[in-house]
Amino acid sequence: MKKLFKKIVPITTVIKIKKLIDTTDRLAILFFSKTKLTSSFYYLIVNKSFMREHQSVLKGRIKYYKSLEKAEDSCVLLRRNIHRIEKGLIMQPRRNVFGDAFIGETVDAFSLAVEQSALKGSEGNWFTDVLSEYFEIVSSSTEIDLAREKYIRICKDNKIISQFESIPYVHESIKKTDISFEQLKVLFKQRRSVRWYTDKAVDISLINKAVNIASEAPSACNRQPFKFHIVMNKEKVKEVADCAMGTVGFSHNLQTIIAVVGDLSSYPAERDRHVIYIDGSLVTMQLMLALETLGLSTCAINWPDIESREKMLDRLLDLNKYERTIMLLAVGYADSQGGIPYSQKKTCKDLIRVVK
Ligand SMILES: Cc1cc2nc3c(=O)[nH]c(=O)nc-3n(C[C@H](O)[C@H](O)[C@H](O)COP(=O)(O)O)c2cc1C
Repeated sequence: MKKLFKKIVPITTVIKIKKLIDTTDRLAILFFSKTKLTSSFYYLIVNKSFMREHQSVLKGRIKYYKSLEKAEDSCVLLRRNIHRIEKGLIMQPRRNVFGDAFIGETVDAFSLAVEQSALKGSEGNWFTDVLSEYFEIVSSSTEIDLAREKYIRICKDNKIISQFESIPYVHESIKKTDISFEQLKVLFKQRRSVRWYTDKAVDISLINKAVNIASEAPSACNRQPFKFHIVMNKEKVKEVADCAMGTVGFSHNLQTIIAVVGDLSSYPAERDRHVIYIDGSLVTMQLMLALETLGLSTCAINWPDIESREKMLDRLLDLNKYERTIMLLAVGYADSQGGIPYSQKKTCKDLIRVVK
């Protein structure tokens, strides 16, 4: 339809129409922005840009509540609450009674995970070790005693034995790096957005390796609400890259593309809806640097929140409504003769404001 319109109507008329729409919209936003309610009205009636986000947040909340009844690979409530317990364990001074407001739901979630065989691997050990440590240390309250009794019974019935390994430790015991500031500077300067790659295919084992260390990144309540969808089939790489707007002219030479996708089912409330973007970006920065040390270059690619493009990517990656793409990341071996924009950076002069 759009294409047909562009063919029939002369370009000068198209430009005039676009200008008129733009001017009207500018006037409209002056009016609608006066109150929060009229702003919402604008986005309900005039502009549909937030529709997908609204639906994704609601679908995420529904999925979150479902996850409390059906344990999945990783229980988001357990991850958050075990983290909260760890914070209680390291508190200075540590209180005799803490976590009583949420220990009941935590042990219920633990019980569900055990029942449905979802308590697995290092994550399962972490849940068990922290809960065991907590019940060893914490004093008594009605809620804690009930939870303690239930926890001990679950462990006994299912022969779960804590090794007390994945529990809080003191800073002194962290293995320290010998990377100097200068070396870090070289790595940071080496990482540049690379848009031109050789034909050499990327080995998935390198990506796995990099993701394994990138996931050391901080995330709110240690939820890690993201997934990396890795596309290595050359044709599909181009198709995915073309869904974004910023790959015009170089999408054909990309070797691998990673879609960094946030999971809104990690939260029961709207207030945390932006966290997927923060956590997803922090981990992706680490991923870029990790890949760099393995000889691979990257280019972050903006993901525009445009319904038609979202639909294209949903189809290619089979995404759920509660999943939101944060960005794409091209990965490959840099063409040694490929150009790199100079991209002058700001310095502390521009970036720092000392608050008095
Ligand atoms: C969130 C984000 C989105 C980006 N989107 C695009 C894009 O769509 N196309 C592109 O060619 N580069 C993209 N870039 C790369 C930037 O243009 C690049 O990081 C910036 O110019 C600084 O250059 P440098 O990465 O080499 O330091 C993006 C970078 C980020 C962080």
